[in-house]
Amino acid sequence: MTENNIVWHDTTIKKEERQERNGHKSTILWFTGLSGAGKSTLANALEQQLFKQGKNSYVLDGDNVRHGLNKGLGFSDEDRKENIRRIGEVAKLFVDAGTIVCTAFISPFKEDRDRVRNLVEEGEFIEVYVRCSLEACEERDPKGLYKKARAGEIPEFTGISSPYEEPESPEVIVDSDKQTVEESVEIIISYLQEKNIL
Ligand code: ADX
Repeated sequence: MTENNIVWHDTTIKKEERQERNGHKSTILWFTGLSGAGKSTLANALEQQLFKQGKNSYVLDGDNVRHGLNKGLGFSDEDRKENIRRIGEVAKLFVDAGTIVCTAFISPFKEDRDRVRNLVEEGEFIEVYVRCSLEACEERDPKGLYKKARAGEIPEFTGISSPYEEPESPEVIVDSDKQTVEESVEIIISYLQEKNIL
């Protein structure tokens, strides 16, 4: 593939070799859901378990990535699209590096999530829908952002003045307003075992 005189260079060490050495497959665990649904909490709790088990894992988190790589991107539909596109590409690199990468971004648009799904091989994109009612997220309001959004101080706030498109057929659904963090982590780990990723 040649584009602008840039030619793809195959790496010497293959993804499969890295996976073999790690003793597990690499994959993207794509957490999606409303702000306050518990994506980061779950991604981090899951990673703790994986880390304890000696697996290679990493968490990419919306609030953190927006401080660096995606600094300068806002919350318009276009900026969110670019935010997710970049994270998708980074997540793909992590998979290539043999890592189980947990991403925690609202990623409100189905099209953007599907684009990431299509970047990687079949089975390497696991959509985890962290389902939680808007009422419960608003009740939690850990960062006080819903209150501000209701007061009209944050434009285009997901769930209030910007849409959230629910996943149609996610690989995993956790109901964070009904299940505990431990229960949700268990569900995800069971899924990974069932699919022979761990
Ligand atoms: S995404 O829509 O582009 O996927 P992302 O997950 O990176 O969003 O960032 C969401 C986080 O940014 C929220 O958890 C919240 O802390 C903060 N935030 C600030 N403004 C907004 C907004 N308008 N809509 C949603 N989240 C916002």
